[in-house]
Amino acid sequence: MHVFDKISGLQDFLTLQRNANASIGFVPTMGALHAGHISLVEAALADNDIVVCSIFVNPTQFNNQGDLDNYPRTLGEDIRKLKSAGCHAVFVPAVEEMYPEPDTRKFDFGNLENVMEGEFRPGHFNGVGQVVSKLFDIVKPHKAYFGQKDFQQLAVIRKLAKLINSPVEVVGCPTMREEGGLAMSSRNLRLSPQERQDALLLFNALKKARQMADKRQSPDAIRQEVQSIFDASDKVRLEYFEIADSETLQPIADWKNAKESTACIAAWLNDVRLIDNMTLFP
Ligand code: PAJ
Repeated sequence: MHVFDKISGLQDFLTLQRNANASIGFVPTMGALHAGHISLVEAALADNDIVVCSIFVNPTQFNNQGDLDNYPRTLGEDIRKLKSAGCHAVFVPAVEEMYPEPDTRKFDFGNLENVMEGEFRPGHFNGVGQVVSKLFDIVKPHKAYFGQKDFQQLAVIRKLAKLINSPVEVVGCPTMREEGGLAMSSRNLRLSPQERQDALLLFNALKKARQMADKRQSPDAIRQEVQSIFDASDKVRLEYFEIADSETLQPIADWKNAKESTACIAAWLNDVRLIDNMTLFP
């Protein structure tokens, strides 16, 4: 597996591949890789001749300095995992390589960025748009793979691809979970064993929401039930729970005319913020 920290080295490699007519799959990440990330690499390997993964903790998408400083970094282990998965190249740029000048671009993701993650993490999706548009431009992949774990991010990236007229095909992949249901996340590395147990509340609340939706109980009744589940916990603090139209991401008021919807949740365990989601009407 090739490891590149400079754009020029990566592009020389990719030009050779393109000249040999290879299709290129791309998996952008921020590292601290787990089986969820590796499942994206595997999906990319199944569809493409060459797979490139990037590892870059993108400062412009962090709206909280502490979160950026504490973001887990495990580069040696990440490279080992990518190699054994069969990934062909990894791009690990320094901040100056990605941002030789400050990026002042502002993307308009419309209503997608006014709700949920957009509401609670102002500027976050703009930063994601900045880095992903640069990475698409550098790698010029045929297909790029993103997890449904970050459901709103996936919608934002589909929108970004349209905004910047990118020919990249954006592929969404299912959420990988730990035994018990906790969604895999790099931030789980910051949880104690007890906190990992407590964090199951997110998955359990989503399961409860799905059960209630299956019985066509109203979205508001579900919202209240989830709120009361978290009110009863002194360990996990609910930031939001929403039932959103899977396409527009706007809150659903009732099931009349409702198409597929997704229950989305964000909660804090001490200073670690976790998100998860579940489709309600598959
Ligand atoms: P990161 O959180 O490292 O995630 C990289 C990719 O892995 C994202 O597409 C994310 O949705 C996916 N992923 C994370 N946990 C997953 C799980 N449990 N199952 C399946 N896929 C999972 O998301 C980012 O990085 C950044 O915002 C990025 C897109 C790289 C831009 O900086």
